[in-house]
Amino acid sequence: METTSGFKNKVALVVGGASGMGEAAVRLLARAGCRTHVFDVKPAAEGLFQTCDVRDYGQVQRCVQKVVDQESRIDLLFVAAGVHLFANIEDTSIEEFERVLSINLKGTFYVLKEVLPIMRKQCSGNVVLMGSDQVFIGKGCSTVYGLTKAAIGQLTKSSAIDYAQYNVRVNCICPGTIDTPMVGPSVERFHQMSGTPVKEIHAMLRKAQPIQRLGTPEEIGKAVMFLLSDDCPFMTGALVCADGGYTCQ
Ligand SMILES: NC(=O)c1ccc[n+]([C@@H]2O[C@H](COP(=O)([O-])OP(=O)(O)OC[C@H]3O[C@@H](n4cnc5c(N)ncnc54)[C@H](O)[C@@H]3O)[C@@H](O)[C@H]2O)c1
Repeated sequence: METTSGFKNKVALVVGGASGMGEAAVRLLARAGCRTHVFDVKPAAEGLFQTCDVRDYGQVQRCVQKVVDQESRIDLLFVAAGVHLFANIEDTSIEEFERVLSINLKGTFYVLKEVLPIMRKQCSGNVVLMGSDQVFIGKGCSTVYGLTKAAIGQLTKSSAIDYAQYNVRVNCICPGTIDTPMVGPSVERFHQMSGTPVKEIHAMLRKAQPIQRLGTPEEIGKAVMFLLSDDCPFMTGALVCADGGYTCQ
């Protein structure tokens, strides 16, 4: 199904768009006719790129202002920047705790704080935040990551309520395990901690999801496109699972 409704000539911003699901969304948005801006700490292959570390509120302010200077508006926002940390609470250092919180949660907050007023003033806008299956459930050795994703679920709902009156929708995509560069380091850490062979860990990850495989970045990109499109005008504040059935169990 092509969900290209309402994308032509829109100004889109993808934060964390240099890799994985963010990159997939950048490709789909560009193909659908958006002028697509990308913020990331790594250079992006596609889109109008600015280096932006979301941990730094000043950088987020300057980068958003530059988009507004160029475009005078921002129609669509997808905040995908994030990092995983495979650790229980005892094995999480204070530095790691601060890092994951700063990127996943504070970074998302900073971007929303800058972009939502623009959408409010233009009386239109559409936002998708990056959750995870951990918006709904706990997972072993994923304490801090899980808390940031649960908090993003709350950011979604609160912002959806506050901005509905300004014709701004805010939804959250909640993927299961997706085959992106993020997965490798966590698999490696699990391997080091448990001695379980890497191949076996990958098989476990596949089997854990009823669909029996990992998702692809493109599959999530397409779900994000649906939420960003004009095809679901009554959806706001939704926490949308795209997890191969993982959270049904
Ligand atoms: N891969 C999965 O299984 C999975 C599942 C559910 C949710 N997620 C979430 O999806 C999002 C995208 O992850 P992905 O799996 O595509 O991994 P990825 O590593 O390919 O992409 C993450 C992107 O975020 C960027 N980023 C990291 N720190 C940043 C910072 N400080 N400032 C700006 N950009 C920064 C990275 O450079 C990278 O381009 C993350 O929020 C992640 O938590 C991933």
